[in-house]
Amino acid sequence: MEHKGFTIWFTGLSGAGKSTLANLLEKELRSRSMKVEVLDGDVVRTHLSKGLGFSKEDRDTNIRRIGWVCEVLSRNGVVAIAAAISPYRDIRNEVRANISNFVEVYVQASIPVLAERDVKGLYKKALAGEIKNFTGVSDPYEAPENPEVVCNSDSETVSESLTNILNTLQRLGYFPS
Ligand code: ADX
Repeated sequence: MEHKGFTIWFTGLSGAGKSTLANLLEKELRSRSMKVEVLDGDVVRTHLSKGLGFSKEDRDTNIRRIGWVCEVLSRNGVVAIAAAISPYRDIRNEVRANISNFVEVYVQASIPVLAERDVKGLYKKALAGEIKNFTGVSDPYEAPENPEVVCNSDSETVSESLTNILNTLQRLGYFPS
């Protein structure tokens, strides 16, 4: 049976695990023969959003672009998975309002844990004041108020988070029976 298109929107701080979860979810959904595309902030910024920086204006533009692509994909029966910090609530809600099947996943992680992991070495620099406007350190992050899923990356394993997301998709009727 043909599945319907929808958008799964990951939001959370840099290094919280959005891309990891997005890529695992992609594999899981593909294994169920679903059509899936991942839009990762780091990747989108190398082409569609190339040249944009990290001011509020540029971040909003980045998120609106990703949201537009997700809307087009979802409308055409594809599962679009977005993984960008998307720090501003109003823009996330604007994107949500444009997409009929929208699932927001908040990947929560605390700054001490992120600074300890520091995969890209950015928190060390940001905390030392070497990167201005770094989300969660010197720039705002507005947590979602009513996300469909919350993944607590401080305390859950990746596999627990993935199960939580899949259970929610099932409950919301996104898997063909
Ligand atoms: S968003 O704010 O526009 O949604 P996006 O997810 O595309 O951000 O890009 C975030 C990535 O850019 C981070 O994971 C990090 O690698 C890098 N980055 C560079 N500078 C910053 C900054 N000032 N704030 C946050 N992330 C930054």
